[in-house]
Amino acid sequence: METAEIRRRFLAHFERDTTVGAHTAVPSASLLLDDPNLLFVNAGMVPFKPYFLGQETPPYPRATSVQKCVRTPDIEDVGKTTRHGTFFEMCGNFSFGDYFKEGAIRLAWDLVTKPVADGGFGLDESRLYPSVLAGDDEAEALWCRVTGLPPERIIKLGPKENYWSMGVPGPGGPCSELLYDRGPEFGPDFEAATLGPDMPVELEDRLLEIWNLVFMQDELSAVRSKSDFDIAGQLPSRNIDTGMGLERVAFLLQGKQNMYEIDVMFPVIERAMELTGRRYGDDPADDVRFRVVADHVRSSMMLISDGVTPGNEGRGYVLRRLLRRAVRSMRLLGHEDPALPELMPVSRDRMGETYRELHDDWERISRVAFTEEDAFRKTLRSGTQIFDLAATEVKEAGGRSLPGDQAFALHDTYGFPIDLTLEMASEQGLEVDEQGFRELMAEQRARAKADARAKRGQHADTAAYRAVLDAHGPTEWLAYETLETESRALALLREGRPVPALAPGEVGELVLDRTPFYAESGGQAADAGRIELDGGTVLEVVDVQRPVRGLVVHQVRVLEGELPAGATGLHARVDPEWRTGARQAHSGTHVVHAALREVLGPSALQSGSYNRPGYLRLDFGWTSALSPEQVRDIEAVSNQALRADLPVGWQYMTLSEAREWGAIALFGETYDDQKVRVVEIGGPWSRELCGGTHVEHASQIGTVVVTGEASVGSGNRRIEAYTGVEGFAYLARERDVVSELTGLLKAQPDDVVGRVRDMVERLRAVEKELERARLAQLLAGGAALAEAAQDVSGVAVVATRLDGASGGDVRTLATDVRARLGQDRPAVVVLVGAADGKVSVVAATNDAARARGLSANDLVRALGPHVGGRGGGKADLAQGGGTEVGGVDAAVAAVPAEVARALGGA
Ligand code: SER
Repeated sequence: METAEIRRRFLAHFERDTTVGAHTAVPSASLLLDDPNLLFVNAGMVPFKPYFLGQETPPYPRATSVQKCVRTPDIEDVGKTTRHGTFFEMCGNFSFGDYFKEGAIRLAWDLVTKPVADGGFGLDESRLYPSVLAGDDEAEALWCRVTGLPPERIIKLGPKENYWSMGVPGPGGPCSELLYDRGPEFGPDFEAATLGPDMPVELEDRLLEIWNLVFMQDELSAVRSKSDFDIAGQLPSRNIDTGMGLERVAFLLQGKQNMYEIDVMFPVIERAMELTGRRYGDDPADDVRFRVVADHVRSSMMLISDGVTPGNEGRGYVLRRLLRRAVRSMRLLGHEDPALPELMPVSRDRMGETYRELHDDWERISRVAFTEEDAFRKTLRSGTQIFDLAATEVKEAGGRSLPGDQAFALHDTYGFPIDLTLEMASEQGLEVDEQGFRELMAEQRARAKADARAKRGQHADTAAYRAVLDAHGPTEWLAYETLETESRALALLREGRPVPALAPGEVGELVLDRTPFYAESGGQAADAGRIELDGGTVLEVVDVQRPVRGLVVHQVRVLEGELPAGATGLHARVDPEWRTGARQAHSGTHVVHAALREVLGPSALQSGSYNRPGYLRLDFGWTSALSPEQVRDIEAVSNQALRADLPVGWQYMTLSEAREWGAIALFGETYDDQKVRVVEIGGPWSRELCGGTHVEHASQIGTVVVTGEASVGSGNRRIEAYTGVEGFAYLARERDVVSELTGLLKAQPDDVVGRVRDMVERLRAVEKELERARLAQLLAGGAALAEAAQDVSGVAVVATRLDGASGGDVRTLATDVRARLGQDRPAVVVLVGAADGKVSVVAATNDAARARGLSANDLVRALGPHVGGRGGGKADLAQGGGTEVGGVDAAVAAVPAEVARALGGA
């Protein structure tokens, strides 16, 4: 059965159900749903979290979906097990306070066991084993009653397996899994009744988990591990959250061995076979590589489609790793040419049947992916040079093993994967200090984990806000309607705890029943303004945030008077000047975005933005620097929109309507069919999903002055601009600079550039002249040095120190002195320079000296220990560096003896 058919049957089963009632089919949300605790959406329930927590009223009592998910903690295991993909699709059914355990169990059992001819999956009942949380007798009894299975067929497992949470504070509950016995080829025989509390590892492949039914009833306040968590209380209602692995069911129903061989993934492996000439199934190590390719190509494509661009942290880093691992695996399979242009279109054609945006947005998706592959190929090339140097050094020193810190530096600085270092080392007959490398990696990982924990801590503690929301409901938010409200204080907090009052000078968090203040979101900075209480209390609003959906929290500082917790009669006033500037900047951002797309083409898509009164910046996916002309054009198109005074308007519609309309939905938006707000400027010229505050028509933006464009990480550029009075102020500052320059240069404005260019050229010529003079002076000393040569067993030896001379100077002088000594008799020149705490040792020999066995390379190596350095080169000329200036004289003094020793040994 094709994957698409499994998906259809799943949704139809729940949409058409008449036992508990029809479920609303909800389209998949973006992988990048705005949840500060999650890098990516990793389960079907994520978009519904506010409904489970009772933060929002669900628009339907039951839902079903097939949700795109990404999980990357086990990225190294991909391809090695049969069931771990980084991208996968989770089929789910959800009840928000509607049906509970019995309904969920019956619906799942019916679908998997119903014959294929009747719309089910037709799995053999005798191979199915339900599991329950040990102690959940209710679930156990229900499984027996609903399925007719005897109690010995039910597996009882501990909380590690059968209590589900998001891994962070949030909803959770006991769960039941449906396990499918794949037969004795996949693991030892077992007795269901005696298994538990943990599932034995050797049964994980045999007893394949296909469906997880979560009886979501608890709210967790802390999660330390899968089996160690704190339950804060019961959720407002008892819910159902289930997740069936689409790929897992597909490989069972398609008679395949693992998820990489199913209809939507295997064609990529087939193409990889054609490209590499190797066959899947011939060699276990190659098979893992083929599976990595199939998985990573698909995952990275889906991530790019949802707006991720490669980068060095967070989501961007995950994407970069996926792309690089795919390219690298192809290389290990013997394919060294660009691989993604061959493979990704195959994945697109398979996945595009369900996700049509892969076709619509292909130009951008492919550009991001292919550019990253090109960059990685360059990295491979430069890293290879570094590797070769390191390997040569090890071999010259007579070693056999590349030090761990070198392997780590290659990995960390050049993005060189360790397996590549290992492979290349073995080609050269070297080993790698893997132990040392892994220790350094472990240290780095520990640092990264500590960072992540610290970050999570900042976001996770929303319990205090949720308590306020539970007690008072959502804030009446009037930012679109008015700049002033009469309000009442509902809560006053400091550091997450309620306080009775705020004294003068103190800062705290104030929740009002209604507010005109815009909370920071969608790139727009929070409003500034004041809140006053009759009788002389004045509060400055420092920040405004929405830490949980529906609740607006003002961070306030008491300027005068005192603020009691239950204050009524508060006058909340947004600074009107501020808001005017904010509206100009936000509308300006949309204008610049539309202008950008007009000038660069529709594949230039915003990846992030920030705006505050007078200023905006916009990051967008683009792989090359913009030319000055493009920047000027973007500014010109923007200002034409202002001059044309395009109307600005907004309206609510469903997401699908917004899409039909061509509105640009940036990541972070919920893709269910709730109403979204679409802001348009000049009708179809600019349509974006946006919750910000805007001007009424474009000329109110005043002006758009683009100040620059720069790279912000690979594949992303940033454009910055000033709007409104700030724009004019910026131009005025530029004018002041020009007038100061005209004064200094006594020139007309139009001549300033020419004059400065002339001056720079003259300065360069003078610097060159100065350099020539310095060199002449240095070389003038050469004759004297040559004359002062001493004789060591018939060899003319020059050895001296040169203070203030850099490595380049020392080298030039050494070859000059050698030339002056001629070819008639053997000559050796050793000059030791010392400048800025650095020592440079240069040795030069002529042919006659080399004929007597003297080598510049040997001399530099022999002198190295005196100056704490090393280095080398060839027999005629060698150079080394060091850090111990105190040893320079000793090095110089040692030269005659070293020469004598070398001669003696010859
Ligand atoms: N949330 C559960 C899971 O991810 C069931 O959907 O397994």
